[in-house]
Amino acid sequence: MQATTFALADSMRRLGTESAFVVLARAKALEAQGRDIIHLEIGEPDFNTPEHIKEAALRSLAANRTHYTPASGTLELRSTIAEYVNRTRGANVGIENVVVSPGAKPMIACVLMALLNPGDEIIIPDPAYPAYRSIATYVGAVPVPVPLLEARDFRFEISALEAAITPRTKMLVLNSPHNPTGGILTPQDIVQIADIVRKNDLLVISDEIYNSHCYDCDFSSYYGLAGLPERTILIDGCSKAWAMTGWRLGYGVMPSYIADAVGALILNTVSCTATFVQDAAIAALTGPTGPVEAMHAEFLRRRDLLVSGLRDIPGVTCRMPGGAFYVFPNTSAIDSDDIALANALLDDGGVAVLGGSTFGRYGRGYLRLSYANSEDNLRAALSRMKALFARYRN
Ligand SMILES: Cc1ncc(COP(=O)(O)O)c(C=O)c1O
Repeated sequence: MQATTFALADSMRRLGTESAFVVLARAKALEAQGRDIIHLEIGEPDFNTPEHIKEAALRSLAANRTHYTPASGTLELRSTIAEYVNRTRGANVGIENVVVSPGAKPMIACVLMALLNPGDEIIIPDPAYPAYRSIATYVGAVPVPVPLLEARDFRFEISALEAAITPRTKMLVLNSPHNPTGGILTPQDIVQIADIVRKNDLLVISDEIYNSHCYDCDFSSYYGLAGLPERTILIDGCSKAWAMTGWRLGYGVMPSYIADAVGALILNTVSCTATFVQDAAIAALTGPTGPVEAMHAEFLRRRDLLVSGLRDIPGVTCRMPGGAFYVFPNTSAIDSDDIALANALLDDGGVAVLGGSTFGRYGRGYLRLSYANSEDNLRAALSRMKALFARYRN
């Protein structure tokens, strides 16, 4: 029988991808062939989820909490999140402002779908986490990149941000600590950005998913410091702070009419987030902070090891990232084609990393390395990189 194929929706051509998952699949395929690969590509803590959170999930399952919940989340979790955000950001939100989703990524997608019309412009840092651009383009909006430059420790140049605003600009995306560079916004940046936002009547998505991972100073929350509640959507979740990437628990905090729209999108797609996962999230948000502090201390040691090792490799420069668990070395002196270099590292060096340009064109000439891996593996990866780059240069 002749195979029949049907045309995909035109909108599929506008959907992007996420290189971390693509490279992970390639690295796994090489491992299946017997190759020894060090994984520095995927952005997830390598620690186990803390025991008290797993125990809460087990208790929930034992109590048969295995049915649907309201689309926007259980009242218990939404009120826990509201209290948590009020405590950690000095905000004054209630459950009507909170929507729960299976991971922060679907929350980003739902917020963009709920707010952007075709032709609306959305300012996105470049480089950036790929989902913002992908979904904005998917809905027909126009992503406007504003560069985050190494010379400014990957923070916005305020004048470049202002220059990117047009009468069609509806929204601005902030992400601090930042994926992929590890850059952080200072309190002064935040005040200046908030002025621009107010003056130009913009909405802001403040993606603060890495807020537990700030190393040299306390975390400065846009939402807490300047996030005007009527024009800011906070994105956060359990994935990165409590090593819960596979549980799928994220949330958004926003004006209640936007929360209703986002809840309607959740209802029409995934129905709700798994009940026992929501119960476990309450344990995460209200439980002991020791496990997060232990992960933080370990990440800090690894960051320092990786940055000093990278700075030792001829041809590589590397800023000290203030947050998240990524470093973003400049490897343009080895090869300005970061994708080719990342491929060579994987194929010939057995180290999986991401090319910086997969996060935007200003990422060209950089690599993203995640240090969610053991110190031994980081040392081994550094020596493989050093050896490969020496061969590559000759
Ligand atoms: C900046 C940023 N936002 C959101 C997410 C999504 O997190 P989640 O695993 O909760 O969907 C990620 C994941 O890598 C991220 O880097």
